[in-house]
Amino acid sequence: MSEAREILVTVQEVWKAYDEGRVPVLQGASLEVRAGEMVALWGASGSGKSTLLHLIGGLDVPDRGELHVCGHDPRRESDRLELRRRHLGFVFQLHNLIADLTVEENLRVPALAVGRPTAQTTARIRTLAEQVGIAHRLKHRIQDLSGGERQRVAICRALMNEPRLLLADEPTGSLDEATGDLIFSLLKELAVRNGIAVVLATHERRFAEACHRWLRVRNGKVSDA
Ligand SMILES: Nc1ncnc2c1ncn2[C@@H]1O[C@H](COP(=O)(O)OP(=O)(O)OP(=O)(O)O)[C@@H](O)[C@H]1O
Ligand SMILES: [Mg+2]
Repeated sequence: MSEAREILVTVQEVWKAYDEGRVPVLQGASLEVRAGEMVALWGASGSGKSTLLHLIGGLDVPDRGELHVCGHDPRRESDRLELRRRHLGFVFQLHNLIADLTVEENLRVPALAVGRPTAQTTARIRTLAEQVGIAHRLKHRIQDLSGGERQRVAICRALMNEPRLLLADEPTGSLDEATGDLIFSLLKELAVRNGIAVVLATHERRFAEACHRWLRVRNGKVSDA
């Protein structure tokens, strides 16, 4: 990965504890992610991978330390909204889709948040759905889809507003091995094709190794694996 690429994420000496300091999680964690690269956060259960993603994505705030994400400071409430609407996409372990809405309806939600015109949204939904092989399911409800299909939809949803950065928290964690491999490959291919940076939390070494770079999360810190 070229060193000349723009830095999209800077996490600098970040500390985070839960339960009024009784559960220390991050203790001086630092990392950088550049445009277009796919970076794994690899570590044991409870090591703080999700916590890190939540801080980067502005779903939580650190106790101490600096964060810069796509030109914004996710510690600031005013920046968080803009980050989540326009710059970031999230994919979670459980898809977090609305079960009794159709695929298409779910994919309209992020577009509504930024006021994108309907015709443009429809075209974007079709393009993404074709890219992940779910176009034939657009009128089906989420509850009628398989786990792998739901995760494809979740990836589309995360990409709807053309983010520069995708935060993926164990996106294959609820899938069987073969489906997990498929979803991982799809994510990587889409990210590379669209020049999107991905930060992927995983405890599975095979996925970490398949990223452009993998970082180890251990003892509250992040290091090169
Ligand atoms: N809101 C919270 N309140 C209290 N403790 C929390 C909270 N969120 C996380 N923790 C604790 O912080 C630690 C790190 O959690 P985190 O979810 O970041 O780990 P993880 O590396 O993502 O683990 P996993 O691989 O199981 O998803 C865990 O010990 C967890 O119990
Ligand atoms: Mg986690």
